[in-house]
Amino acid sequence: MPIQKESRLLKIGVLGAGPIAQIAHFDACKKAKNVELYAICDQSKHLLERMSILHEPQKTFTDFAEMLQDPELEAVIIATSDAFHVPLGKLALAAGKHVFVEKPLGLNIEECEELAAQVKASGLTFQVGTNRRFDPALSYARAFIREELGELMALKAWYCDSVHRYTMTDNLQAQAFTSPDAKKPLENPKADKQRYFLLTHGSHLVDGARFLAGSIVRVQTQLVKKFGAYCWFVACEFENGSVGQLDLTVAVRVDFEEGFRVYGEYGSVNGRMHLPWFHKAGEVECFSTKDDLYRRPLGQDAYTYKLQLEHFAEVILDKKAQQGATVEDGLAAMRAMVAISRSAESGDWVNLNDVSGGV
Ligand SMILES: NC(=O)c1ccc[n+]([C@@H]2O[C@H](COP(=O)([O-])OP(=O)(O)OC[C@H]3O[C@@H](n4cnc5c(N)ncnc54)[C@H](O)[C@@H]3O)[C@@H](O)[C@H]2O)c1
Repeated sequence: MPIQKESRLLKIGVLGAGPIAQIAHFDACKKAKNVELYAICDQSKHLLERMSILHEPQKTFTDFAEMLQDPELEAVIIATSDAFHVPLGKLALAAGKHVFVEKPLGLNIEECEELAAQVKASGLTFQVGTNRRFDPALSYARAFIREELGELMALKAWYCDSVHRYTMTDNLQAQAFTSPDAKKPLENPKADKQRYFLLTHGSHLVDGARFLAGSIVRVQTQLVKKFGAYCWFVACEFENGSVGQLDLTVAVRVDFEEGFRVYGEYGSVNGRMHLPWFHKAGEVECFSTKDDLYRRPLGQDAYTYKLQLEHFAEVILDKKAQQGATVEDGLAAMRAMVAISRSAESGDWVNLNDVSGGV
């Protein structure tokens, strides 16, 4: 079926033609009903040439500053290594462009705070790419929790990456093109596995828990490292007085597992999410004591990478309230991950307001 586009399209420039842009953002821009893939920018000429032939943007750039000077460009997607998110996000805001940035928001609390202040002062839209929020099952669970569940008592949430992940994703995704002239940070982000896993996977787990149960106030972590795998068991307390258990395990010797349970005054919610590359909505059952019935949404469109962009464009073009992660959500997730890391070192409860630095 040809894609049905709306008459007003948000002109987006994608910075970065690396794996996530190739596998998700270029295609999502082309399929989103209210977005135009206006420009692609990558320092790598090789990647830029290949991607422009495939995706036919109106413009291509090797220099981000030059792309930002284009008066027709309205917004950017920053799909680069984590270390560049904050500095490039600041440049884009300074140029008056709306920003969508991949997760995690940055590398430490201080740079994220500076960015958050700039976002506030700019009045521009800023969204972080924690795409799970756009799984229809998770959106439904959040609405049910807010509207039906009454007072919250507890949340359990888990994100367990699998040793079989790459077998599955290699089958699902076209093989990404790489190039030796791609721009990489001086320090290899994957060199320190403990830090990398917490930032890259923990950002989804923490954002999902906050999306469902609200702000996290303090955490206590137990970290076990065995046979090259890492398991963070995190006790947490939410601002609303409920308690939580977060389990981040990388990698389990079983299928990929991501899910949650929420217990409230008038019911409970069980959720099981799929590896997002299947583009299949999670299975969520919401039970209400009002009628003793379960509700279970189908969620036929679960292309979260497209849905998050359509939402980003709706916030900008139609002034829709933001459901995607804001810069404040990205900062709060960063605080939670730093607190989880500090608590793993000391074994003590750590308040999110007391931490500084990075993971
Ligand atoms: N939401 C998700 O499910 C998901 C999944 C995978 C990765 N990610 C995130 O996506 C981000 C990018 O991942 P990746 O593996 O595609 O990164 P990558 O480093 O392999 O690719 C980034 C590309 O950006 C280009 N680039 C970087 N800085 C530039 C600059 N200043 N000017 C021009 N070009 C520049 C590089 O040349 C490179 O081609 C990471 O933050 C990662 O955490 C998110």
